[in-house]
Amino acid sequence: MRAVLLGTAAGGGFPQWNCACRLCASARRGSPGVPARGQDGLAVSADDHNWYLLNASPDLPAQLAATPALAPGPGLRDTPVRGVLLTDAELDHTLGLMLLRGAPDLRVYAPEPVINALSEAFPVRGLLDSYAEWSWQPVRAGEPLTVHGLVVTAYPVSGKRPRYAASAAAGDDWVVAYRIEDPATGRVLVYAPCLASWPDTFDELTAGADAVLLDGTFFTAGELAEQAGRPAPPGAGATTPMGHLPITGPGGSLDRIRERTGVRWIYTHLNNTNPLLDAGSPHRQALAEAGAQVLDDGTELRI
Ligand code: MLT
Ligand code: MN
Ligand code: ZN
Repeated sequence: MRAVLLGTAAGGGFPQWNCACRLCASARRGSPGVPARGQDGLAVSADDHNWYLLNASPDLPAQLAATPALAPGPGLRDTPVRGVLLTDAELDHTLGLMLLRGAPDLRVYAPEPVINALSEAFPVRGLLDSYAEWSWQPVRAGEPLTVHGLVVTAYPVSGKRPRYAASAAAGDDWVVAYRIEDPATGRVLVYAPCLASWPDTFDELTAGADAVLLDGTFFTAGELAEQAGRPAPPGAGATTPMGHLPITGPGGSLDRIRERTGVRWIYTHLNNTNPLLDAGSPHRQALAEAGAQVLDDGTELRI
């Protein structure tokens, strides 16, 4: 299986258009070791010809243009993009659907509450179907589906609803992680860019995986508050600011990773407050020592 990291930043991207913080300013200046990053998304293929996008960020046009494997062809309007698998309904993961309008025969897979949100609170489904009718298919927990040679299984990981859908029905399957297996090779990739906690099912989901892309939004629970000049929340580390499990601190994901060797752990969906954005930071060094990585946009993994 081939997997291309289309984007590795959280909502807003990096640098973020309206942020004058030290890290965003460094990226804007083109400082070495602080590369710009588009909003989180991934592309996967078992056969080099049929590709699936995981999440569709508003940076998608630039991400597609930067990825030769996703170039249109061989016919004038052909594309190797066959479908999109959504982990959640957040705008940074769904706005890109609008930019695929008119794509023929596109399949969109998502948890049911996400499809509902895209039909109601953020009604892009009806709008897009008026350009080309797409197939919108709910994914169900633990029920594998096969997409051009890849077996994909969704695992619910949190009930985090987007702010625009705050009045929609609560549920524990608003956010899923995907386990993607290539049965021809037995290789497994897990994509989990939004984790509010480390649920027990996450161990099941990542068992035997070759690589795991996971939520790296915040290095510490307090960094968002610190940037805004507010005190860190009490018990920071045990909390999950904005529904994202921090990397460090008590209960953070890095301690789990340290105990789980034999998997390639890669953080994605980095917020512009995250010191890991600077490759020269001691934080990046600490990550490497624990057995985890951050990769640049455009990195291709052969799994
Ligand atoms: C998130 O990941 O928490 C959301 O994308 C936040 C946002 O950008 O609204
Ligand atoms: Mn996000
Ligand atoms: Zn910033």
